[in-house]
Amino acid sequence: MDISILGIPMDLGAGRRGVDMGPGALRNARLNAALRELGHRVHDLGDVAVTIPETVDRLESQGLIFKDSILNACTESYRRLSALGPEVFPISIGGDHSMSMGTVPGASQGRRTGLIWVDAHTDYNTPGSSPSGNIHGMPVAHLTGLGDPQLSSIGGAGWRVDPSDIVMIGIRSVDTAERQLVREAGIKVYTMKDVDQMGISRIAHETLERLSGVERLHVSFDADALDPTLCPGVGTPVPGGLSYREGHLLMELFAESRRVTSLDIVEVNPTLDTRNATAEVMVGMAASLMGQQIM
Ligand code: ARG
Ligand code: MN
Ligand code: MN
Ligand code: MN
Repeated sequence: MDISILGIPMDLGAGRRGVDMGPGALRNARLNAALRELGHRVHDLGDVAVTIPETVDRLESQGLIFKDSILNACTESYRRLSALGPEVFPISIGGDHSMSMGTVPGASQGRRTGLIWVDAHTDYNTPGSSPSGNIHGMPVAHLTGLGDPQLSSIGGAGWRVDPSDIVMIGIRSVDTAERQLVREAGIKVYTMKDVDQMGISRIAHETLERLSGVERLHVSFDADALDPTLCPGVGTPVPGGLSYREGHLLMELFAESRRVTSLDIVEVNPTLDTRNATAEVMVGMAASLMGQQIM
């Protein structure tokens, strides 16, 4: 397969600094080589330009923290990924999760897209509901057309992800007002309770079944979905996450389906990490999604 890697060194959407160094940490953990060893042709597109927070006013637009700069980086990511066409498998490496407002429409190629959101958080806040004001807690709401009109139309005025085409896995931290928005939208959420009770294998199969009607299938993998003992290098850790094997099995089962068409790896923060462990674990997850097998 032809894989294109796009780095998005952005920490503007997060409450803590350092996740802008995630792309470097993931490349340092041999992402490109791991994918090549699986037989893929890997093209690294380098990084998109992202504004450095010290150079701008954080409340640059209507009190939404770093909105203009995030909009620019997401728009550029959208353009770069759109230009790849449908035959290339894009892997976007970040960077805080606000980047997915550009990568999901970019990878969609204008088609109906299923979104698998692997995360401790639902990231379904709007500017009105967010307790923190951090835009990395808002990308999914904007992808479904809620929230700020500019952030919600990065993929063009008409393009949206239908809430019924979204499945979230690993969830264990949802803000009060956000919970109501997720319920109203009708998004399918597999919490950690569901993972414990049902097992990740059944969840993987139900997810693929539910998203059987979509043309494109995007996995957005936040490193904080995994347990913080395994992935300490994240800005918003929440105890009780996916285990190493649950993460791999989920990716292995998605790989077996051959249905996934794009991937994000987000929220890897090397300044909070232990010897780059989080980046190494996430490279392993990407390899499993791209076909790595034990035997
Ligand atoms: N729900 C919290 C907020 O809105 C945390 C979001 C964390 N998101 C993330 N991509 N790590 O601020
Ligand atoms: Mn997230
Ligand atoms: Mn998260
Ligand atoms: Mn996070």
